[in-house]
Parts: sequence; C-alpha cells; structure tokens
Amino acid sequence: MLQDQFRRPLRDLRISVTDRCNFRCRYCMPAEVFGERYEFLPRDQILSFEEIVRLARIFVRLGVTKIRLTGGEPLLRADLPKLVAMLAAITGVEDLSLTTNGYLLAQMARPLKEAGLKRVTVSLDSLDDHVFGEMNGRGFGAERVLQGIRAAEEAGLGPIKINTVVVRGLNDHTAVETARRFKGTDKVVRFIEYMDVGTVNGWKLEQVVPSREMAERINAEMPIEPAGKNYRGEVADRYRYADGSGEIGFISSVSEPFCSDCTRARLSTDGKLYTCLFAGDGRDLRGPMRAGDTDAELEAIITRVWGARTDRYSEERTAETAALRQRPGSKVEMYRIGG
Ligand code: GTP
Ligand code: 5AD
Ligand code: SF4
Ligand code: SF4
Repeated sequence: MLQDQFRRPLRDLRISVTDRCNFRCRYCMPAEVFGERYEFLPRDQILSFEEIVRLARIFVRLGVTKIRLTGGEPLLRADLPKLVAMLAAITGVEDLSLTTNGYLLAQMARPLKEAGLKRVTVSLDSLDDHVFGEMNGRGFGAERVLQGIRAAEEAGLGPIKINTVVVRGLNDHTAVETARRFKGTDKVVRFIEYMDVGTVNGWKLEQVVPSREMAERINAEMPIEPAGKNYRGEVADRYRYADGSGEIGFISSVSEPFCSDCTRARLSTDGKLYTCLFAGDGRDLRGPMRAGDTDAELEAIITRVWGARTDRYSEERTAETAALRQRPGSKVEMYRIGG
C-alpha cells in the first residue's frame, strides 16, 4: 500500500474543476484582488474531463476511495454532471461528493444526482443577509443558498453538511443562529476555524475563533456533548445536541491540527498535484500527460510524490511562521485547489 513518510495512506482526492467563482469571500478571493481584470486560467491550461478522469483512475488504483469536487465554485464548470457520471463509473470510488457555495445548486441538484453524485456540502457563512453579503463580497443574501440546500435535499443528495467559516468580528455573532436554524434537522453544520491559507486574505490570528470558544457559546444556549469520529482522519469533531435533536461539528485546523491523519491529495484546475492545502507549489501532471506519458509513468510520478510527502503544515504553524509565510506567491491560494 502506498504510504507517505509518516505512513499516511492516500485515500481522498479533491479535484478542483475551475478556479473561477461567483462569490468573492473575504477569506478566499477578496474583491480588491480578484476584480474585473483578474486573469483566471485560460481554457487550454484547464484539465479536460478526459484528463481528470484518466488521473482519477490512477489515483483510485493507488488507494483513493473518496473523491470530492471543488473549485473555485465547481458548479460554474460547464457540463459538470457529465464529469460526475464519468467519475461515478470508476470502480473503487466509494464516495463522490461536492463542495459548493450553493448559489447555482437549485438548478443543478437533480442533474448531479442523476449523474451519480452521492452528496453535497454547502458553504453558508451567515443567515443574516447583511453579514452574509459582506462575507461573500457580492452582497448576496442567504435565501438563494437555502433554496439550493432544499433542492439538494429533495434530489436525495443527503446527508447534507453545511460549512461555516467563522471570522471574529465579521460573522461570529451570527454563528449560534446558524446552529439553531439547522438544529432538529438532519443537516450538520460545521464551524471552521479561519485558516491562513494562501497569501491574499490578510489572515490574523486574532480573527480566529477557536472551536472551544464556539462550542461554549453554543453549549450555553443549546447543550451539546462530544460524539466521536465517524471515521479515522475525519476533519470535524462531532457533537450531538443533548436533547437528541441532531449533530454539529467543529473543524479546528488552527487550534487542533489534524495532519497526523491527513490522507488527502489535491488536484488543481491546471493539473498539479498538491499534497497539502498549504503547499507552495504542486507537481505538474498535465505537462507529462500531454507530452505522452503512459498511465504507468503518471502512476510512478504520483507514487514518488506521495511517497516523499512530509507535509504537516498546520501542526508546524505558529504565529511567527504564519507571518513569515505571508509573502505573495509563497503559498497556493485556496480557490486554486479547493479547500
Ligand atoms: P466529509 O467527507 O464530509 O467528512 O468531508 P470533509 O469534512 O473532509 O470535507 P470538507 O470539504 O467539507 O472540509 C471541510 C473544511 O475543512 C474544508 O473546507 C477546509 O476548510 C477544511 N479542511 C479540509 N481538509 C483539510 C486539510 O487537509 N487541511 C486543513 N488544514 N483543512 C482542511
Ligand atoms: N479558512 C477556512 N476555510 C476556508 N474556506 C475557504 N477559505 C478558507 C479559509 N481561509 C472554506 C470555504 C468552503 C471550503 C471549500 O473551504 O468556506 O467551505
Ligand atoms: Fe468562492 Fe468558495 Fe472561495 Fe467563497 S470560499 S470565494 S465561494 S471558492
Ligand atoms: Fe493535511 Fe496539510 Fe491540512 Fe495538515 S495542513 S491536514 S498536512 S492538508
């Protein structure tokens, strides 16, 4: 079995299908940086569906059982259900999911389900329209995302998870309300600590609300108790409401890093393999593929990269290293590799 230097197997593949997004979240693609003139990847640099599927097959042969489609915003990629159908047909893919901002989900849910998508995770940072509009940088309200969530549920894309990135001073005062809204449903809200991914979001440690604090705030109004992990390497700490009315989660990537169980590889829109969310650069796979490498040759590259992997950025991170790493270009941006 393929393992990295810390004996972590390769289990999950997160595929970014576009670097574009219709939101401009402050913590990911701030509008000041990603304005009208920002140049996203030209078409010829983006992996085709055939190329994605070819690589996915190789990853599955090396141990991947879970595939997640991300972006940017994956629903902006034309004909996405076609890609889903192609990936769903690969033997060995046990879980096929997608992380979306939900804006286009109402119209896409059914075709995605029919193509073989199993479930979706929807990002929703606040139910307060003003706060949400500030967070997404476009002034969009929450209703359209809620409609997307309903459509996904009706289409059978559950169990649905809802990701809320918590940024102190921006949306943390609305987080308890988000928890309350989904309490008593089968949707699981997960609060994510704001991370120092990329170089453009101006991350400061003070803006992180530690999961412990978030859990206390929720517990004060709606008692919760730890529920244990669903599977080894799960990034969220699960809690259940003491009154039995559902579950919530906390993703503590800053305060309690989970690198020791990290089995995730990321394939960027332009075909680079990243072995960490915080990596500076990835290993180009598109070049060799287009130059005529065989599947065996591509497999050998991936095997070598994963075998040499020593990434554990979140465990190594300190306020100091975070400051050091704010140099532009020194870390990959989240919208390129999709969280
Ligand atoms: P499930 O299969 O539903 O358990 O999905 P997941 O929780 O692995 O995936 P999801 O995309 O919902 O992850 C939630 C968030 O956790 C991401 O958007 C990131 O913010 C964060 N996250 C996921 N993987 C990593 C990782 O490898 N490192 C760090 N530091 N954060 C991660
Ligand atoms: N910190 C934490 N989470 C982030 N996401 C994007 N950028 C960050 C960040 N800096 C989350 C999004 C979405 C997922 C793809 O990653 O909100 O839920
Ligand atoms: Fe788009 Fe997601 Fe980044 Fe927000 S976090 S800008 S929705 S890719
Ligand atoms: Fe994995 Fe890197 Fe995140 Fe650690 S920081 S959990 S190694 S992606």
